[in-house]
Amino acid sequence: MASPPVCDYEGSDYRTRFWEGQGRDYEDLAERTALGRLLPPTGDTLIEIGAGFGRLANEYLGYQTVVLFDYSRSLLREAQAHWGHDPRFIFVAGNWYELPFVNGRFDTIVQIRTLHHAADVPALLSQLAHIARPGGDYILEFANKQNLKAILRYALKRQDWSPFALEPVEFAALNFDFHPRWIRQQLTRAGFRPGRTLTVSHFRLPVLKRFVPASLLAWLDGLAQPTGRWWQLAPSVFVHNRHPLYGDPAAPDKFFACPTCRTPIADLPHGEKNGRLRCINPDCGAIWLVEDGLYDFKQAQTG
Ligand SMILES: C[S@@+](CC[C@H](N)C(=O)[O-])C[C@H]1O[C@@H](n2cnc3c(N)ncnc32)[C@H](O)[C@@H]1O
Repeated sequence: MASPPVCDYEGSDYRTRFWEGQGRDYEDLAERTALGRLLPPTGDTLIEIGAGFGRLANEYLGYQTVVLFDYSRSLLREAQAHWGHDPRFIFVAGNWYELPFVNGRFDTIVQIRTLHHAADVPALLSQLAHIARPGGDYILEFANKQNLKAILRYALKRQDWSPFALEPVEFAALNFDFHPRWIRQQLTRAGFRPGRTLTVSHFRLPVLKRFVPASLLAWLDGLAQPTGRWWQLAPSVFVHNRHPLYGDPAAPDKFFACPTCRTPIADLPHGEKNGRLRCINPDCGAIWLVEDGLYDFKQAQTG
C-alpha cells in the first residue's frame, strides 16, 4: 500500500521565517509552559517526532538519550549545528509512517506542531504505539478545529466547514485541524490512554501580542491552560497520554530497526559518525547511510 503523502520541509527556512524575530515569543513560551507541565523531567530515552530544527531540544536535557527525528535532513542539520556536541542527542531522518526503531524503545514521545501535517493519523499512531515503552508517556500537541475563532467565523458564515464536526479539516494542502474528541478516539484506538489536557495559545491575537509583553501573555496563558480539562476553545491543545501497556520494553542493546521490514539493525561502532547500517533480513537487505552523525532512513541504498 502506498505511504501517505508527506509535507516536505527539506531546504525550508522554517526557523528564520516562522520563529526567529517573527513575533512568536508568546507562542513559544506558552508551549514550553504546557510541555513543562506534562513532560516527565527525567528519563532514559525520549524521541521528538517532527523535531524540526530542535527548537524545544533544551527541554529534554533530563534524558540520557534524546532522538530528534524529522523528515527534513536540512532542519536536522540545523539542530545538529546547535546540539551535535552533546552526546545525548541522536539525529535521525525518516518518515513517521515508517519508524526506524525497535518496539518498546522510548520512555517518552513528544510531538508538537506536527500532527497538522498528518494525512493518516491512525497510521502514525500505530507506529508510535510500536516504539513506545509500555507504561511510558506520550505528549501530543494538535491544532484544534473547535477553537473560538473558527466557531465565530462559522457562526458569521465566513467559513464553510463546521468546527463541531468530528472529522479533520484540511484547510490547506497537508494542513489539518482536528476535533479534540476525534483525537481522543484515535489515541484510544491505537492503545494510548489520553489523560491531562491543556489548552494553549489562548491569546494568539495580533493586537494583544503587539501591546502586551510576550512573557506576561504567556504567564496569563499558563493560568488558562488547565481549563483544557473542561473545554477546549484555544487553537492549540496538549494532551498527555500513557503508552499502551501491551508489548515488552526493548532490550537495552537494541535501538534501530529496519523501517522496511522492522528487523533490528546493529548500530555503528561507538563513536563512529559515518557508515552504513545493513538489514540482516535476507529478504530485505536494505542499507541505510549515516553521514556526519545524521542517520538517514529516508531512502534505502542499493548494493
Ligand atoms: C511545523 S514544523 C514543527 C517543528 C517542531 N516540532 C517545532 O515545533 O518547532 C513540522 C515538522 O514536521 C516534520 N514532518 C512532517 N511530516 C513528517 C513525516 N511524515 N515524518 C517526519 N517528520 C515530518 C517536518 O519536516 C517539520 O520539521
